[in-house]
Amino acid sequence: MTRQIDRLQASIAPFLAFFNGPYAKLNANPEVANFAVGNPLEFPMPEYVDALRASLEPKRANWFAYKDNEPKSRIAVARGLSKQTGMDWDPADVAMTNGGFAALAVAMRALVEPGDEVIFLSPPWFFYEFMIIAADAAPVRLHLAPPAFEPDLEAIAAAITPRTRALIFNSPHNPSGRVYPLETLQALARTLTEASARIGHPIFVISDEPYKRILFDGIEFHSPAEAYPHTVITYSYGKQLLAPGQRIGYLTVPPTMPDREAFRDTVFVAQLATGYAFPNALLQHAIEDLEELLIDVPAMQRRRDRMVEGLREIGYETTIPEGSFYIMARAPIADDVAFTDILASHRVLVLPGTAVEVPGWFRISLTATDEMVERGLQGFAAAYAEAAQE
Ligand SMILES: Cc1ncc(COP(=O)(O)O)c(C=O)c1O
Repeated sequence: MTRQIDRLQASIAPFLAFFNGPYAKLNANPEVANFAVGNPLEFPMPEYVDALRASLEPKRANWFAYKDNEPKSRIAVARGLSKQTGMDWDPADVAMTNGGFAALAVAMRALVEPGDEVIFLSPPWFFYEFMIIAADAAPVRLHLAPPAFEPDLEAIAAAITPRTRALIFNSPHNPSGRVYPLETLQALARTLTEASARIGHPIFVISDEPYKRILFDGIEFHSPAEAYPHTVITYSYGKQLLAPGQRIGYLTVPPTMPDREAFRDTVFVAQLATGYAFPNALLQHAIEDLEELLIDVPAMQRRRDRMVEGLREIGYETTIPEGSFYIMARAPIADDVAFTDILASHRVLVLPGTAVEVPGWFRISLTATDEMVERGLQGFAAAYAEAAQE
């Protein structure tokens, strides 16, 4: 057994290779059409800056005192969730965190004992396996098969053992852009209910939902919490505000969850143990405004359409995302890392599929500018032609 830090590093090796390699070299170059990650490349929404500015001015002596799960934050979040789900969400079940990343870490710490197994679905977010290892648990990888990226319920049922504690589910899904309908979530709930009865303890769904407001074509988002009471939702405001460096998010459970009163205390201890994983005072003061704000999703949908159409005209096979920031496209040669190098030589920066466990593909983030899309399409065409000659 290697040291935990070595196992953590190994689990994100493809991400680190990209991050310390092509990303570090090209990310700041203005000549590069940058589709690498979900970072803002345009100025933030003025309304967002106004909200922060308004909350910066102290109104009481304790304005910047230690903050934890502030009542105002909990109420704003619960109000939003009640509206979204039609359930009567209890503010006391909302735990505020510094981003979705911390919400996942807190969820792991609250749910998982050393040696437990946690199932995650591949392609995953870069850090799921990493966070399972960080919780001293055993990661169990199952696959979502392209192009539909449907969960295989039989495979999930077969992978469940008496040590299974949780399954991480992500919709809208990064990187495929799938938004799973309620019927899929209900079928997953039936599978997990049966398996929980078989193994004698509940299996939790950790529902990672940071893109739930980034939806295209009028599609509706549903949370597994609507179908399955043992659901722990993790959320980040980083996507809806396109301000991921301002760390605020939450962890919460639905009003249907059994023993939720006891779970609140567990979560609070986990928030402390995760290194005071609460959001800063300023962001919690601004929460009512933040909850209402959303980036220009119709503009992002137009960018998606332009990109998909442009790539398909060149000859690329692509997904058409229903939500999230991402399009997946198949590299015209088998080696996605080599192809992303060719793209980089044409001043286009994308994420190689290997970094998200989809070798042979690459991921495009729609947080780029429209101008970068036009410039990038020329680079995509030149790289495609170059690959065809090899
Ligand atoms: C699927 C998924 N989960 C969680 C996160 C973490 O979000 P944040 O960094 O805003 O906490 C991200 C960020 O990219 C993500 O894509």
